Amino acid sequence: MKILVIGGGGREHALVWKMAQSPLVDKIYCAPGNPGIAALAECVDLAVDDLDGLLSFATARQIDLTVVGPELPLTLGIVDQFEAAGRLIFGPSKLAAQLEGSKAFCKDIMAKYGVPTAAYGTFSERDDAVAFINKLGAPIVVKADGLAAGKGVVVARDIAEAIAAVDHIMLDKAFGAAGEKVVVEEFLNGEEASFLAFTDGERVLPLASSQDHKPVFDNDQGPNTGGMGAYSPAPVVTAALYDEIVETVIKPVVRGMAAEGCTYRGVLYAGLMIDDGKIGVLEFNARFGDPEAQPLLSRLKSDLVPVLMACARGDLSGQVLEWHEQAAVCVVMASGGYPGDFAKGLPISGLDAAAKIDELMVFHAGTTERDGQVVNQGGRVLGVTGRGATVAAAIAKAYEGVHAISWEGAHYRTDIGAKALRL
Ligand code: AMP
Ligand code: GLY
Repeated sequence: MKILVIGGGGREHALVWKMAQSPLVDKIYCAPGNPGIAALAECVDLAVDDLDGLLSFATARQIDLTVVGPELPLTLGIVDQFEAAGRLIFGPSKLAAQLEGSKAFCKDIMAKYGVPTAAYGTFSERDDAVAFINKLGAPIVVKADGLAAGKGVVVARDIAEAIAAVDHIMLDKAFGAAGEKVVVEEFLNGEEASFLAFTDGERVLPLASSQDHKPVFDNDQGPNTGGMGAYSPAPVVTAALYDEIVETVIKPVVRGMAAEGCTYRGVLYAGLMIDDGKIGVLEFNARFGDPEAQPLLSRLKSDLVPVLMACARGDLSGQVLEWHEQAAVCVVMASGGYPGDFAKGLPISGLDAAAKIDELMVFHAGTTERDGQVVNQGGRVLGVTGRGATVAAAIAKAYEGVHAISWEGAHYRTDIGAKALRL
């Protein structure tokens, strides 16, 4: 069969790498892809938001399954458009993707279906948001309602910072229409974890636990990024908590979405805060996490393709997921200056040496090719992913890879996975 993967980051490289191992697959296309993906798939020069172009391509090539990586095409309705044309596609519909596309919608679903989450208010008037902030007190969290590339959330230490965040979103319109509404919510303490589950709209098939590292510097210092590294499994999610998350978070949301008339099919990603065994949901995403997909797919033993097809067709019954016992750790190597401005086009060395290391995969994220040389192009450049018998061994393997690779200004956290060793 023929597969089309939409996206060109580390998550999509991991998806292509995993599906390329499936005996069901003859050919993979990836739009737009990247130089790492090009070793496994044919890259197609189409942007992720070119919905008409992508559908024309899938139709012309008779693609059997399209797999959507990032949130933007989902919130634009790519799944609705493909399904209307009779093409099988993995991901939630436009209505269902509102779970990620609107934080206000997401909070309302959680409140209505009893999912544990922080107390909140949603506001379309600046003064009402300020009054609520004054009532709740600090620390407090201010979020732009719509998609803001991970930059629309401010965890404010005091009331002045929270009000400044509201003004930045609503008056300065820093995120455009994504900031027409704000969600203001109670600050939750604890340790974060990511929990992903496949769903056909009714049944759920949870993945292994994982943990992201959002702040740019070691010890969770500095501004938030898209994620500087991830590992799986995450010991903060104990076996008992794992079951509790499925029962109190994943199933109620899947049932709630169906009851609301926006049945959710695809992979549902819950961003969680775990405080002394107590679960709080921070957000839902309508897709695989990036970089969580890299360690998760590295550990997945089962063929991914039948599971994605079953979700897309709306019948997951009989599907199971088997996992390698090994742990996996992904360390993101980023451009100097990220998450701020950075220089592009710098040649990356050591990729050949890293490719020779056993139990190591270097997933490309923000790379491009110039005159036959791989250079940096995006903020997050590579997801260097190691496997090992324990998290400690996987950490050592990932950093062995990182130390083999370099370019001018490259930076990375040196403590990815360290939280798993403390538990
Ligand atoms: P979100 O996009 O909603 O997941 O928020 C981005 C990041 O902000 C999260 O990964 C957390 O680190 C932090 N955050 C969001 N909401 C809260 C909250 N209610 N309490 C504490 N931290 C939060
Ligand atoms: N790693 C966070 C995300 O994918 O949203």
